[in-house]
Amino acid sequence: MAKTKRIGIIASGGDAQGMNACMKTIVTMADRKGMEVVAFLGGYQGLLDDDTKVLTLKDVERSFNLGGSIILSGRSKDFMDIEKRKKAKVVYDKHKLEGIIVLGGDGSIRGAKDLEDLGLNVVVIPCTIDNDVFCSERSIGFDTAVNNAVGAIDNIQQTMSANGRVLIIEVMGRYCGDIALYSGLCSESDIIMIPEKKQTVEKIIREVKKQLSVGNASPTVVIAEHQFDVQEVAKQMENILQKECRAVVLGYIQRGGSPTVQDRLLAVRTAVRSVECVLNNEFGVVVTLNKDKIKLVNFKKAVKSRRKFREDIWNTFVDLKKYVTVKVK
Ligand code: F6P
Repeated sequence: MAKTKRIGIIASGGDAQGMNACMKTIVTMADRKGMEVVAFLGGYQGLLDDDTKVLTLKDVERSFNLGGSIILSGRSKDFMDIEKRKKAKVVYDKHKLEGIIVLGGDGSIRGAKDLEDLGLNVVVIPCTIDNDVFCSERSIGFDTAVNNAVGAIDNIQQTMSANGRVLIIEVMGRYCGDIALYSGLCSESDIIMIPEKKQTVEKIIREVKKQLSVGNASPTVVIAEHQFDVQEVAKQMENILQKECRAVVLGYIQRGGSPTVQDRLLAVRTAVRSVECVLNNEFGVVVTLNKDKIKLVNFKKAVKSRRKFREDIWNTFVDLKKYVTVKVK
């Protein structure tokens, strides 16, 4: 059957596990509805450069469970320049697209709003390990990244504990503390430092000292990135406590690997809905997760809304740590 309608697809910003599952679902659904999918390679830059590839069912075969992005991903400096950005509309019109589905985080949503302002039809699916998309309870990639972080912390803790060392571990998240909070809680770490709950290095050293005094020979401190130089913190701590400390920056291991079931499920649900959006002419929206339901939030609201920090999860961690300290005493 000749395909008359065309959908564009872009993976933007840092890649996230589950992006490929989204793409495969979009290509499958589009094929079923007689539509063709055109990928712009490497993020918004691919749209400006008209760097494309038609995605067939064959192209997405066996890609569902892969990390990374088979259509590449990236951040574009040119896109920030309003004059250069105008090229997007020319390319969009050339390909006679019904609309574009963007997979990305909060920066990509702002970019999608810019495209909408240029007259493009756009839908966004939140995909970022950082979980910092304001209007959605969870973004695709977050669950896998946290699981990766927990697995790595579990492993490192074993060797730290064999050597009686303090572990200071930096995790990703850009300016959002969720990876640190969830991985810290789920790896039974002792101290968590996140931008949402600012703490000083002095306070952390006091907390580690307290842990040591109640018999915890190898406390673990999880620190969200962009707050401190963890190597410096380890040195300072070692000097003050006269105890061996090791700092580890976990890095990109968090962003790789097969998506978890949670991420695959969210990818499929949001991707199916995004194709429906294109078919129903529902544009200028983010396909979000809210109270376990897939809901559309319009760009205006999405870019204005403030993300709700999970105070309840933070309080669970705080209560648990108080409990442990009391119990050990
Ligand atoms: O946004 C995802 C993320 O992995 C952040 O957690 C991190 O700060 C950033 O990307 C790293 O960016 P890059 O891949 O450009 O080094």
